[in-house]
Amino acid sequence: MGHDPNLTINTARLMERINSLAQVGAIDGGGVNRLALSDEDRRGRDLVVSYMKCLGLKVSVDQIGNVVGLRDGREHGPAVFTGSHIDSVKTGGRYDGALGVLAGLEVVETLNDAGIRTKYPLAVAFFTNEEGARFAPDMMGSMVHQGHLPLEEMLEIIGIDGTSVRENLERIGYAGDIPCATTKARAYVELHIEQGPVLEHDNITIGAVEGVQGISWTEVEITGTSNHAGTTPMPLRQDAGYTAACVVRSVRKLAEDFGGDQVATVGYMELTPNVVNVIAGQCRLIVDLRNSNAERLRMAEKRLIRVLNRLRNRENIAIAHRSLARYEPVSFSASILEGVERHARTMGYSVRRLPSGAGHDAQAFAGNCPTGMIFIPSVRGISHNVDEHTHVDDIEAGANVLLRLLLELADN
Ligand code: GLV
Ligand code: MN
Ligand code: MN
Repeated sequence: MGHDPNLTINTARLMERINSLAQVGAIDGGGVNRLALSDEDRRGRDLVVSYMKCLGLKVSVDQIGNVVGLRDGREHGPAVFTGSHIDSVKTGGRYDGALGVLAGLEVVETLNDAGIRTKYPLAVAFFTNEEGARFAPDMMGSMVHQGHLPLEEMLEIIGIDGTSVRENLERIGYAGDIPCATTKARAYVELHIEQGPVLEHDNITIGAVEGVQGISWTEVEITGTSNHAGTTPMPLRQDAGYTAACVVRSVRKLAEDFGGDQVATVGYMELTPNVVNVIAGQCRLIVDLRNSNAERLRMAEKRLIRVLNRLRNRENIAIAHRSLARYEPVSFSASILEGVERHARTMGYSVRRLPSGAGHDAQAFAGNCPTGMIFIPSVRGISHNVDEHTHVDDIEAGANVLLRLLLELADN
């Protein structure tokens, strides 16, 4: 406490880092493709590690490849953590994850410039494979970091290209030696774009995030009979493509019937052999179900299983399923929520509470230490898309609230 009450981050410096990281794995339209543990992810990691070292942070890499940059405090003890992820979906935007990590580094540089040493250490982290788009489950690194997922099992997970987490960590040089699940955090705060339309619609600058909805991913493998599209009579088909379409339809209907904040998506589907005049013999798809009510999410999962059983009988086809990711809804700390609101108001930014529809590394910390998130608006609510955009003024506002909150948490 007792720091310059007008201390603010350097927006141009933060934007320069955001734009530089966006060059790594850049794709048409201004977005990025930095799938977890790919060569692009490696280059992104190397760049962010170079920033950390320039800022004087002590960099460590753990056994699941999470990278933590530590800034000593005046006293020893668990650090106040901030950060996010730098992996992306295949067609990702430049702010999802990267913002939280680079804003954390901007806070560090602001403190360095002002000669401020906080009472407790500060840590800026980027966690492995938050997206889960190459290796399921999502939030893999942060969940292992906080002891919610088993390291050895996660290292053996095979990704969409048939290679494992372990071999890719080794390949890109980020199989570290720091043990996981041993780091205690004093608190965790993450700045992230909203990735939805609420803040923009309500003309609000800062979101104080109440919690994250529960997430359930189910892989479905449908095995029928691949046969000639012209000669096989309709009643004699075992059509994996048609059955998959029924799953997609039923999943949409599930969300319509449940109402409330239930969402349900099939965003991944692979037909084999995927040929115009061949009945699909196989289909692999993944169902994403989310609800902020734990019981409703369980009901949705049960209904999905009933749908699969019904289709198996009706279409006389083999259907196997397994869970790829399963997280309960989490609530963030009242004290951090209140802190986000208070600092936003003090700085003259409009603020409202809202839940998160997307998964975040913060949810891994939620049960273990005071945890919260700051959201800033996403233009047209677009994310997981190269068109993802957030205005510079909002980035500045979010990073300033992060600065104030981290200072407060690390000094008290
Ligand atoms: C991660 O971004 C997710 O919400 O799936
Ligand atoms: Mn994210
Ligand atoms: Mn994402």
